[in-house]
Amino acid sequence: MQTETVAAGSAYALSRAVELLRAGEIVALPTETVYGLAADAFNPSAVAKIFEAKERPHFNPLIVHLPDRDALEEIADVEGDLVTRLIERFWPGPLTIVLPKRGRIPPIVTAGLETVAVRMSRNPVFARIIGAFGRALAAPSANRFGHISSTSATHVRDELQGRTSLIVDGGATEHGIESTILQVMREQIRILRRGPVTSEMLAEFGPIAETVSSGRIIAPGQLPSHYAPRAKLFVVTNLDSFSVSTGKKTAALSFRSRPRSGTFSITRQLSKRGDLREAAVNLFGMLRELDACHPDLIVAELVPEEGLGLAINERLLRAAAS
Ligand code: TXA
Ligand code: MG
Repeated sequence: MQTETVAAGSAYALSRAVELLRAGEIVALPTETVYGLAADAFNPSAVAKIFEAKERPHFNPLIVHLPDRDALEEIADVEGDLVTRLIERFWPGPLTIVLPKRGRIPPIVTAGLETVAVRMSRNPVFARIIGAFGRALAAPSANRFGHISSTSATHVRDELQGRTSLIVDGGATEHGIESTILQVMREQIRILRRGPVTSEMLAEFGPIAETVSSGRIIAPGQLPSHYAPRAKLFVVTNLDSFSVSTGKKTAALSFRSRPRSGTFSITRQLSKRGDLREAAVNLFGMLRELDACHPDLIVAELVPEEGLGLAINERLLRAAAS
């Protein structure tokens, strides 16, 4: 399969993406979080192509993206006032909500679960394409299973060249990490995956339930070994106290301070000014850059445990777990 990359601004990008989606093909599109690999959510054989391209296990359900708020009714049951208030506040935006599923979504999308994860992207390119398509798209992150998510069209190419016919290049994504996923249970908010909508932002809307331990998989994709670079990754609280073994090519990812020169073969700083938003935007791209130098080891420093920092650390710890 030839992979064509087109600039988001062109009229051709829009018409070609819609044409391919209508024909039951998969298309890589930018969202405000990370790039997604999209297919018609109501076409099971189109959705099967996503699993094939990503080499993703079929027990791992996909997020359904909506063209508009009205499209929600045929996909999920909206129960309770809290869900409605969260939707009103955060959609369109980087928040995914797990809701009881309605019949029409094919089981391949939800991996046979009784629930469906739904969101509505605020990215203007994504919004235009899904709007013109006119129905829901199933779209996981545009990377091969277990790899780091893609925050640029180049990353998507590196991951899915020859596996998707179209990549719509909308530039670097705004948030750089995947959407927050939550579920409302007994009028409490349970965060299944941390993301750009932080628990501080959610706390205004209702009580946040303690996250259950990862033993039981509520979000099947929350396997510990997610986001793995090829190199072994090691997480530390302070890079300065890390002693590098001689003869080992060691890469360092720091938050704001510059790693000691002469110690590490290659270094990246997530945010020189110590801004967690900037750090989130840089996270996956910098991990890819370090990994591309084929180090023996990547040492990553945890960021402050506040706001977005929790979401960033969650991803670093997952990358280290593999
Ligand atoms: O920002 C994002 O959410 C990106 C963009 C492309 O929308 N998508 C994304 O999709 O990160 P993916 O497939 O890489 O991660 C979705 C996560 C998976 O861990 C999956 O297991 C979980 O959502 N999930 C999907 N449906 C679920 C459900 N019904 N219940 C619980 N977790 C679910
Ligand atoms: Mg993913």
